[in-house]
Amino acid sequence: MRHLLWLLALSVSGQVHQLCQPCHTEAAGDVESHKHFAKQVSCDACHGTSEKHRLAAGGAAPDRVATREQVPVLCGGCHVAERKSYETSAHAKVLAAGQKSAHCATCHGNHAPRPLAAMAARCQSCHTTLPAACAGKPRVAARVSCAGCHTVHTFAKR
Ligand code: HEC
Ligand code: HEC
Ligand code: HEC
Ligand code: HEC
Ligand code: HEC
Ligand code: HEC
Repeated sequence: MRHLLWLLALSVSGQVHQLCQPCHTEAAGDVESHKHFAKQVSCDACHGTSEKHRLAAGGAAPDRVATREQVPVLCGGCHVAERKSYETSAHAKVLAAGQKSAHCATCHGNHAPRPLAAMAARCQSCHTTLPAACAGKPRVAARVSCAGCHTVHTFAKR
C-alpha cells in the first residue's frame, strides 16, 4: 500500500510538472537542474496543482505563491532542521518585522540551485561593508567562506 501511494505521488508530481512546462519553460528547466526534481519535488510541492490557473492560461491565480514571510514555512515543511536554526537568526527577526532580509530563497534561489561557490557573493550583495574581523582566517573549514566564522543558519559568530 505504501509503495502504491508513493508511486501515485511520483506520477502526480511528474504530471503537474509536464502541464506547467509549456508556459513556464524557464522555471521548469531551472527545477530540472535542482536535486528537488530528482526527488520528485516540483511545481505542485510549492504552488499546489494550480488547476484553475493552468486551465485559465494564467487568468486565475496559482493555488499558492509564497510571500517572503511565508518562504521559511514553505521550505521548512521539508527542511525542518534548517528552518529551526534559521528562525533564531537576526535574518528571521528582521523578516518577521516586515523588512527586507535574507530568507531561504534569497540565499538558495527559487527554482535553480545556487552553487555554494556563489553564496559569499550573495551575502555581500546585502552586506556591502564588513567589519575588519571578517577578513581574517576562517576558524573552521567550510564550503562557504563566511560560514568559517559564522554558523549556518543562525549566522552568529563561532
Ligand atoms: C497556458 C499557460 C499557463 C500554464 C499551463 C501555467 N501557467 Fe502559470 N502563469 C501563466 C501566465 C500567463 C502567468 C502570468 C505571467 C506573469 O506574471 O509573468 C503565470 C504566472 C504564474 C506564477 C506567478 C504568479 C505570481 O503571482 O507571481 C506561478 C507561481 C505560476 N504561474 C505557476 C504555475 C504552475 C504551478 C503551473 C502548472 C500547474 C502553471 N503555472 C501553468 C500561464 C500559465
Ligand atoms: C521549492 C519550491 C518551489 C518549486 C519546486 C517551484 N517553485 Fe515556483 N516559486 C517558488 C518561490 C519561493 C517563488 C517566489 C515567490 C515570490 O516571489 O513571492 C516562486 C516563483 C515562481 C514564479 C514567478 C516568478 C519566477 O520566479 O519565475 C513562477 C512563474 C513559478 N514560480 C513557477 C513555477 C513552476 C512552473 C514550477 C515547476 C516547474 C515551480 N515554480 C516550482 C518556489 C518554488
Ligand atoms: C516537498 C519537500 C521539499 C520542499 C517544500 C522544499 N525542499 Fe528542498 N529538498 C527536498 C529534498 C527531498 C531534497 C534532496 C535531499 C537530498 O537529496 O539529500 C532537497 C534539497 C534541497 C537543497 C540542497 C540542494 C543540493 O544541491 O544539495 C536545498 C539548498 C534546498 N532543498 C532548498 C530548498 C528551499 C530554498 C526550499 C523552499 C523554496 C525548499 N528546499 C523546499 C525537499 C523539499
Ligand atoms: C543567509 C543565507 C541563507 C539563508 C537565509 C538560508 N540558508 Fe540554507 N544555507 C546557506 C549556506 C551558506 C549553506 C551552506 C553551508 C555549507 O557550507 O555547507 C546552506 C545550506 C543549506 C542546505 C544544505 C545544502 C547542501 O548543499 O548540503 C539546505 C537544505 C538549506 N541550506 C536549506 C535552507 C532553508 C530551508 C532555509 C530557510 C528556512 C535556508 N536554508 C536559509 C545559506 C542560507
Ligand atoms: C537580502 C539581504 C541579505 C543577505 C543576502 C544576507 N544578509 Fe545577513 N543580514 C541581513 C539583515 C537585514 C541583517 C540584520 C540587520 C543587520 O544586522 O544588518 C543581517 C544580519 C547578519 C549578521 C549579523 C547577525 C547577528 O546576530 O547580529 C550576519 C553575521 C550576517 N547577516 C551574515 C550573512 C551571511 C554570511 C550571508 C550569506 C550566507 C548573509 N548574511 C546574507 C541581510 C542579508
Ligand atoms: C575570520 C572569521 C570571519 C569570516 C571569514 C567572516 N566573518 Fe563576519 N564577523 C566575524 C567577527 C569576529 C565579527 C564580529 C566583529 C565585531 O564584533 O566587531 C563579524 C561580524 C560580521 C557582521 C556584522 C555583525 C554585526 O553585529 O553587525 C556581518 C554582517 C558579517 N560578519 C558578515 C560576514 C560575511 C557576509 C562574511 C563572508 C563574506 C563573513 N562575515 C566572513 C568573523 C568573520
